[in-house]
Formats: sequence, structure tokens, C-alpha cells
Amino acid sequence: MANIPTIALLALAGGSCAAAMPNSPTSSSISGAPGPTGTSYPSGFEIKKSWGHLSPYDDARHFGVEKGFPVECELSQVHVLHRHAQRYPTSWPTDGGGMEDFGYKVGNYSKRNPEKKVGSGPLAFINEWEYILGENLLLPSGAATEATAGALFWSEYGRLLYRAGKGDAIYDPSMNTFPNGTQRPKPIFRTTSYPRILESARWWLSGFFGNTGANSSYTSYDLVSIPEEENFNNTLSSTSTCTNGSSSGDYSAERFVPTFTKAALKRLQQHFPDDFNLTSNDVYAMLNMCPYEYATLGRSSFCAIFTQQEWTDFEYSLDMSFYGNFGFGAPSGRAQGISEI
Ligand SMILES: *[C@@H]1O[C@H](CO)[C@@H](O)[C@H](O)[C@H]1NC(C)=O
Ligand SMILES: *[C@@H]1O[C@H](CO)[C@@H](O)[C@H](O)[C@H]1NC(C)=O
Ligand SMILES: *[C@@H]1O[C@H](CO)[C@@H](O)[C@H](O)[C@H]1NC(C)=O
Ligand SMILES: *[C@@H]1O[C@H](CO)[C@@H](O)[C@H](O)[C@H]1NC(C)=O
Ligand SMILES: *[C@@H]1O[C@H](CO)[C@@H](O)[C@H](O)[C@H]1NC(C)=O
Ligand SMILES: *[C@@H]1O[C@H](CO)[C@@H](O)[C@H](O)[C@H]1NC(C)=O
Repeated sequence: MANIPTIALLALAGGSCAAAMPNSPTSSSISGAPGPTGTSYPSGFEIKKSWGHLSPYDDARHFGVEKGFPVECELSQVHVLHRHAQRYPTSWPTDGGGMEDFGYKVGNYSKRNPEKKVGSGPLAFINEWEYILGENLLLPSGAATEATAGALFWSEYGRLLYRAGKGDAIYDPSMNTFPNGTQRPKPIFRTTSYPRILESARWWLSGFFGNTGANSSYTSYDLVSIPEEENFNNTLSSTSTCTNGSSSGDYSAERFVPTFTKAALKRLQQHFPDDFNLTSNDVYAMLNMCPYEYATLGRSSFCAIFTQQEWTDFEYSLDMSFYGNFGFGAPSGRAQGISEI
């Protein structure tokens, strides 16, 4: 899988935390009557929090560590490790590849059967739907997430680190001094050459350093772009460095798909023509459509057609991917990103 969890940049403490592992899936998704579908659920369940790495950023809770630090302390350095934000999918079969195939399937079915509708009932929207997502690029919603994260980090840590004074809104190089007043070197950030990672870093930095008049703040910092290439030891992304380290998670997720989509497949099949041959991979593609269209278009009709349990299982499948590709389940998991810690 190409570059999914690559971390974007760092330099200056604190850091964002990935979502905790959810509970194991229960068996209710493969039994009997479907639960309610929709974009809001009687239980108060929020689907946006069950999209794994595709969920909009949310602060991790329950670590019991308070924000801030004692008033008598002064910050001397701060480090942040940050992931890229909302992007188009990769071409991997359980990601963009599967969604694109589903899009072709719908398009080709309509072409062959101009007199028939593809979807009916809750799926009638599919008759007007087309797959429009591209691949890999950072989206404007991702740029906004990064800029917001950078700006918040400036507010919480940057101001203290650079001793921003009364009335100072943004960073100014004159703040970048040691306590004795000597000028400090420019702060250094690192990122990779992968386009969405590089763009994420730049947007984060423009949030952190301020971007008055929406003009670039390039001159305020040095950004080191580490190539993501074979035979190059990239400490921020091991995708090209450890080529045998990262796809077992995708295979476990792929095996889980037919099991957890069984009830949805049965339910949704009724709203497609008999000869459409809806598969569990199509159902998985429809689940994926929701977060990706949400990131791209601000909403998606696919979000309303699944149950709470199906979203929970969807998230679990994403966790299986990440566990096996980049976490403790991956041969290179413990080493990925270690040089930054
Ligand atoms: C039909 O599928 C092929 C790929 O199999 C694709 O290139 C083509 O665009 C599809 N047609 C429509 C109308 O979606
Ligand atoms: C000021 O502090 C820095 C960092 O401790 C030190 O490297 C530098 O030599 C000091 N400059 C003067 C003029 O004392
Ligand atoms: C932003 O850039 C434009 C074009 O280079 C320049 O005319 C303008 O003065 C800049 N504004 C600020 C606030 O720096
Ligand atoms: C990458 O780092 C390892 C361990 O230090 C070293 O053995 C290897 O030669 C390096 N590879 C490249 C291409 O620099
Ligand atoms: C890749 O790693 C697996 C174990 O995780 C090992 O069995 C296999 O031989 C490795 N392949 C190569 C080409 O190193
Ligand atoms: C659906 O499956 C049936 C039976 O396997 C097959 O005959 C038919 O060609 C398939 N239709 C499509 C559109 O793939």
C-alpha cells in the first residue's frame, strides 16, 4: 500500500495521537434484522468517528495527561509529529481501486441497460451518481485541517516557545532568540517528497507561522524534504525503504470483508437489478465512498445506507490494515518512524 500513514513533519513537544483500537467486532452484523441506518442513530453513535484513519481529526481522550505545563517552566524545544490530512484514495483494491471498479460496474451496467435503473429505494441516488474521485492528492479539506492544526499548535506551544508578546498575533523571526537574546537558527521541519505529505507540511507550517494576506511564509523556516525512493533510508516513511514490511494488514482486512458485509450485501442486493451481481467488495467500496466523498464534497449519499454495527466493523477492518501494515503486526512496524522518537 502506498504511503498511507506517513507522518509529515516535525521539529519544534506534544504530538497528536492515533485513535485507540476499538473493541472486537461482534457477530451482530452477520445475523438477522439490520439495525437502523442513516446519518444519525438512536444510540447517538457518530459515524464520522468510525472511519479509522479517514475520520476527521479528533483529540484523543483518556490518556490522563493534562494540556499545558506549570507556569514556572519555560519551553526550550517542542516536537510535533503529524500525519497528512484528507486526501484522495490510493489505488489499492480495498481503497480507491475498489471504489473505481464499483463506479465502472455501475456505469457499464447503465450503458448496457439504458432502459433499466441501477438502484432503487434507498439506493435510487446511484442512478444519478458517478465516481469522480482522483488518487493520492491532498484535498482542500486536508489543507484546511493542516493549517488549522498548525495554527492551534502555534497558539498552544509556539507562542510560549518564541515568547510571543502582548499583541503579537503571528511569528516573527525577531522572536527566534535564545533567552540571552542571541539569534537562534531558523526552525527546521522535515517532510517527505511524496506530494500529499509535502503539501500537508507546507499547509501546517503556513498555519503555524501565520500567512498574513494569505501570502506564503516560506522564508520563515527551512523545510527538508526526504525523498521517498527505493534505496534511500527515509526516516519518515518506510514504504520504499522496507519494501517487505507492509501489506499483511491489507490481506487480513480483505479476508474480513466478505464476513462483515454479509448482512449489508443481502440487504442492499434487493435494491439492485438481479443481474447486477453485487459483491462484498462492492459493499466495501460503498462504505469507503462515504468518508472519501465527505472529504471531497462535504457529504455523501452512501453514508446513510449502513448500520451502526457495519460502521464499527468497517473501522475494525481499517484497524486490521494499519495494525498489519504499520503497527505491531508488521515486520517493520516497531522500526517505522523510530528515528523521530
Ligand atoms: C466500463 O468499464 C471500463 C473498465 O472496465 C471503463 O474503462 C469504462 O469507463 C466503464 N464505462 C463506464 C460508462 O463506466
Ligand atoms: C546565548 O545562548 C546560546 C544558547 O545557550 C549560546 O549558544 C550563545 O553562545 C549565548 N550567547 C551569548 C552572547 O552569550
Ligand atoms: C502578498 O503578496 C503580494 C504579491 O506578491 C504583494 O503584493 C502583497 O503586498 C503581499 N501582502 C502581504 C500582506 O504581504
Ligand atoms: C540504510 O541504513 C542501513 C542501516 O544503517 C545501512 O546498512 C544501509 O546501507 C542504508 N542504505 C542506504 C541506501 O543508505
Ligand atoms: C518478507 O517477510 C516475510 C516474513 O514477514 C518472509 O517470510 C519473506 O521471506 C520475506 N520476503 C523477502 C523477499 O524478504
Ligand atoms: C452475473 O452472474 C451471472 C451468473 O454468475 C452471469 O451469468 C452474468 O453474466 C453476471 N452478470 C454480470 C453483469 O456480470
